[in-house]
Amino acid sequence: MTLPTPPEGNQPLPCESLTVLFDGACPLCRREVGVYQSLKPARPVAWTDVSKASVPLAPDDRARYLARFHVRREDGSLLSGAAAFVALWQVMPGWRWLARLAALPGVTPILEQLYRGFLRIRPGIQWLARACDTSHLPAGLVADLRSNHAGETGAVWIYRGMLCVTRDKTVRTFAKNHLHTELQHLQKMSALLPPLRRSWLLVAWRMAGFVTGALPAVFGRRAVFATVASVETFVVQHYAHQIEALTAQAGHAALRQTLVDCQRDEAAHRIEAEAHLTHPPGALLAGWCRAVGRGSALAVTLARRV
Ligand SMILES: [Fe+2]
Ligand SMILES: [Fe+2]
Repeated sequence: MTLPTPPEGNQPLPCESLTVLFDGACPLCRREVGVYQSLKPARPVAWTDVSKASVPLAPDDRARYLARFHVRREDGSLLSGAAAFVALWQVMPGWRWLARLAALPGVTPILEQLYRGFLRIRPGIQWLARACDTSHLPAGLVADLRSNHAGETGAVWIYRGMLCVTRDKTVRTFAKNHLHTELQHLQKMSALLPPLRRSWLLVAWRMAGFVTGALPAVFGRRAVFATVASVETFVVQHYAHQIEALTAQAGHAALRQTLVDCQRDEAAHRIEAEAHLTHPPGALLAGWCRAVGRGSALAVTLARRV
């Protein structure tokens, strides 16, 4: 069953109650409606997120309500655009002065023109808002997730660096398999973190990853496996801190599971690399591995900030 299409009204009139029809999938609309929802309206106001498939609407009506802001009055008539905002402002504390201003002759049509101008640039602003939106993530973990995304980017380039240099069949098979998994990890982190919340130093992380994979590959498989074991030891701990933080919080079970899955893969990578090491690394290689561990920690510190 779909909601009937009422006639559109022209004038914002005082009314008993209002139903606000808004696009909850738009971060701009969501934020603005959030401001109104935090207020105590003078009249009852119902909120309908028309982006939800569970709200029964004819396809044309849904498209119309998503394209412009609408308010339905108690008599069933609809207001849209500036007139809808004015009707809402009339019942919102702190906004009534704007409704009174809009009631002056000629003001609502001007507001309507401004709203139409905004609608033209809305797609660009929506893209920007979505590219920054982290409201689906726990606030305290955004910086960690940025470092995860940077780390998985570096991991992908470690194996690309290795594959550029080595002709050793064992190392090539190892690097190809790990590259496949690291690409999946990067995809998961990219899906979690919007583009403008990722590290601004991604070029540097790619270069650092490439060098961290290519350099030991010049010296042979032992150097490669010791390097991977060292990196993965760090990464397993890095994920452990975040999993622990999420365990203490309610909700975010899917995010926690993603981190658990990645950590499990990294632990398997470490075990596989260590299994290839028949004897402990010498002083030089051990020094390199320590430098890799410290470099990873420094990269995380930087990526958490930038
Ligand atoms: Fe990874
Ligand atoms: Fe890994």
